Amino acid sequence: MKVLIADKIDDKVLKLHLSKSVKFDYRPEVTPEHLLKIIKNYEGLIVRSRTKVTEKIINRGKKLKAIGRAGSGLDNIDLITAKKNNIVVVNTPGANSNAVVELTLGLIFSLLRKLENAYSSMKDGLWLKKDLKGQELKGKAVGIIGYGNIGKKLKTVLESLGVKTYFFSRHKKNVGLKELFAKSDIVTIHLSLTAETENIINNKMLFLMKPSSYLINISRGGVIEEESLYHALKNNKIAGAALDVYWSEPLPPDSKWRKLNNVIMTPHIGASTSEALTRATSEIMEKVIKNLK
Ligand code: MLT
Repeated sequence: MKVLIADKIDDKVLKLHLSKSVKFDYRPEVTPEHLLKIIKNYEGLIVRSRTKVTEKIINRGKKLKAIGRAGSGLDNIDLITAKKNNIVVVNTPGANSNAVVELTLGLIFSLLRKLENAYSSMKDGLWLKKDLKGQELKGKAVGIIGYGNIGKKLKTVLESLGVKTYFFSRHKKNVGLKELFAKSDIVTIHLSLTAETENIINNKMLFLMKPSSYLINISRGGVIEEESLYHALKNNKIAGAALDVYWSEPLPPDSKWRKLNNVIMTPHIGASTSEALTRATSEIMEKVIKNLK
């Protein structure tokens, strides 16, 4: 059995699986065109988010039995075509939750303590002590949208820091979505992107936010209506935002998002810790092997 690994994973873990009956072919730089040509040779395919597993790729993969996503979001895999072709799709939803929670906390503190300005002004030779008065997280209200592994963990950590939490998901909530937006000092989004969640955060929701509040998106760009958020930030309807994910990735160098001074940005690194990557790689290799037998 042959499994193609089409994105960068933890290659230390790869070595541990070398002796197994399944042969892993590691090609983290494979282009979409080349993938289309070679996919017919593989029973399994492992990806992260770079590779888009489209209808065309799945249909060309005549031998494919399992597709593994090292990570949680399945929005880069055509699940309908996979199902039609009886291909099992597996992911590792819990493997990166700690990493995402920790980055969320980092972004919250960066916003409240203006860390981006603090760092860059020091490098620029300035001393902005008087301008950099921040706020404490303790006593603030944080609204968590999405209540899976990440949302739940985040709630526990925030509460231990003296934060009042609101949470909302389809199945579990302690508040309605409108109330969450209206009452929170920080709203943080942890949803997967599906037909149901696409553009779920729109003008109407953002309009309810306090002018002093912040929005964090560390899930997928597509869950927010891009123009609505841009407008809210450009016109200072909210105090600011921290974004780790975008409507198009990689974010183009000349993107208008790079020019807003009330937005801090990271390049989709929510799950990018060595621990999370090792965990996700190990779990996905095991899950794919299991589904090939
Ligand atoms: C995920 O869905 O697991 C994360 O967004 C990480 C990623 O795609 O790189």
